[in-house]
Amino acid sequence: IKVDTTTSEYDIPRDDKWEISRQSVTLGHTLGEGAFGKVVRAEARSILKPDSVTTVAVKMLREDHLDAEMIALVSEVEVMKIIGKHVNIINLLGVCSQDGPLYVIVEFAQHNNLRDFLIKHRSPPEYSNVLVSADSSRVVLTEEDLASFAHQVANGMQYLHSKKCLHRDLAARNVLVSENYIMKIADFGLARDVRGKDYYRIASNGFLPMKWMAPESLSHHVFKYESDVWSYGVHLWEVMTFGEAPYPSIQDWDSMINFLRSGHRLKKPSRCSDEIYGIMQDCWKYEATDRPQFSEIVAKLDNRLKTC
Ligand code: ADE
Repeated sequence: IKVDTTTSEYDIPRDDKWEISRQSVTLGHTLGEGAFGKVVRAEARSILKPDSVTTVAVKMLREDHLDAEMIALVSEVEVMKIIGKHVNIINLLGVCSQDGPLYVIVEFAQHNNLRDFLIKHRSPPEYSNVLVSADSSRVVLTEEDLASFAHQVANGMQYLHSKKCLHRDLAARNVLVSENYIMKIADFGLARDVRGKDYYRIASNGFLPMKWMAPESLSHHVFKYESDVWSYGVHLWEVMTFGEAPYPSIQDWDSMINFLRSGHRLKKPSRCSDEIYGIMQDCWKYEATDRPQFSEIVAKLDNRLKTC
């Protein structure tokens, strides 16, 4: 990427393998808006199959974006190209990079992010244990369903790690729920919305997801594969609590470090088996080397789902 900082115009190298004609993309309403830009719903013609129309999500920058944000979005695209496809990640479908604003076209997930999805499905009635009730938008989630969601996310993370990619911001807000309740990890590139109360502002590094961060990341700003495993544990807790906010009483960085250092952890959710809470506790081992790898988490959840 060549950045002309005097006029803020960009010359993005054309990649014919991914380039899509702008005429085939019809933009719709906004799905999400962030500091960096926005994601809009769109219909794309002939993107997956010739002459068929597919609903997609298009990520783009705001008009007044910074050069650094453009660099971040272009880097995100490059990361997605290298990583390749997996069912449990939001896959890149194409880009419009020439003669106009950069559009990054990715898979659309119809049920929004996992946290909002779980909040929407709180307080399921005791009498039912079926996934889809009479009203198809109203589903009742069992512990088995929740374990299957967590299993899918662990699968996606195992794949990302196998591609030498760290997520650095794994949380239920960054998992999207697609058709047939397929979980798809999103925002594993660099451009993401970091406004809002889940992110803690620090002087040098901008905004950080303090309550999802491992002790080594909080104390030394290092990020390892095992740090993603810690975040996965917090995400698993969010799943089992139907999207509760972790550590509501902790407000600042030092309190967070001291809380974890003294051995405190998130409490066992009320509707959570010992087995699943055991996985969380493994993810929250203070020493990074004591935490499991995603392959082990996938295997544990496999067993759990087989015995359901
Ligand atoms: N919001 C942000 N990205 C999205 C996507 N890929 N699908 C649906 N909603 C989204």
